[in-house]
Amino acid sequence: MKKILVTGGLGFIGSHTVVELQNAGFDVVIIDDLSNSSIEVLDNIVEITGKKPDFHQLDLRIKSDVKEFFNTTKIDGIIHFAAFKAVGESVQKPLEYYENNIGSLVYLLQEMRDRNFDNFIFSSSCTVYGQADELPITENAPVKTAESPYGNTKQVGEEIIKEACNAHNFNAIALRYFNPVGAHDSIKIGELPLGVPQNLIPFVTQTAAGIREELSIFGDDYPTEDGTAVRDYIHVVDLAKAHIAALQRLLDKKNKANFEFFNVGTGKGSSVLEVVKSFEKVADKKLNYKIVGRREGDITAAYADTTLASKELNWKTEKTLDEALESAWKWQQSQS
Ligand code: WQD
Repeated sequence: MKKILVTGGLGFIGSHTVVELQNAGFDVVIIDDLSNSSIEVLDNIVEITGKKPDFHQLDLRIKSDVKEFFNTTKIDGIIHFAAFKAVGESVQKPLEYYENNIGSLVYLLQEMRDRNFDNFIFSSSCTVYGQADELPITENAPVKTAESPYGNTKQVGEEIIKEACNAHNFNAIALRYFNPVGAHDSIKIGELPLGVPQNLIPFVTQTAAGIREELSIFGDDYPTEDGTAVRDYIHVVDLAKAHIAALQRLLDKKNKANFEFFNVGTGKGSSVLEVVKSFEKVADKKLNYKIVGRREGDITAAYADTTLASKELNWKTEKTLDEALESAWKWQQSQS
């Protein structure tokens, strides 16, 4: 049975990916520093799959600890989620973002080089495109100057991986996520935002749950159908399955270059108001919201061209926005 290391494996996307890895027959070992996740998620994973992943609480910024881990653990692949990911916070704390997101990446790649193991899946983001000139966004769209240190850590991260693959002949795939939302059908794992949610969906569900007074919709003067910004909201379980497809591609040596990247979205754009309406329908509940000014750094629209991912990964999304919002709402209700 192949053993896969999942860094950040107790986080939102990481935990859903651990479940799908176990469902696909992989042995999983998790590294997580618990800075943006909780240890209870480990038990929740076991409740879903009946299998307990090995778990190491470890700070990947500490090179000696990373080395020590690999002295005792042999693996067949890495899916690397562990990173700070709050766009706004990254503007206030750029050095912490580079130290954590880039430092830990370099230490992991050095171990891959020194111990001759292979198959690296990198959690990247559609933010590398900024506001793309053409929609839907294909993998040929130019990478633009990052709008935040967070976005830059994804761009620089991809460059580092590409150069390491060329120099040391290992194989990697970067998945450029659009907007992950929702929760596992079991409602035992989901998104656990720390403090006031920055992202739309957790703010919507917390407003509906009465935790937040009302949702502020950041701008209705965008050049879109209803004036609100458009994004590609992908169910987190569909996103998790894309990681299994990418990993299998490397394990089966079907990759066509030693570094590849794929856009991972539904291919459908939804405006903020469309999301609100969809939520009100699935939750059968009126949502309290007001329109305010645009948020600094937001783009008008982003949604994926899914052609390459569906062809090369033999993967496509199966769940709808309604299903994602319904699972997000059930998850929120389970938290109170
Ligand atoms: C979505 C839309 C907001 C909150 C970010 C990161 C990206 C990725 C996903 C990590 C926008 C609007 C939001 C609110 C609102 N993260 N909104 N009121 O900004 O598309 O992407 O999260 O990889 O890297 O940049 O996601 O959920 O913050 O915003 O009106 O209270 O909802 O303006 O149009 P975003 P988001």
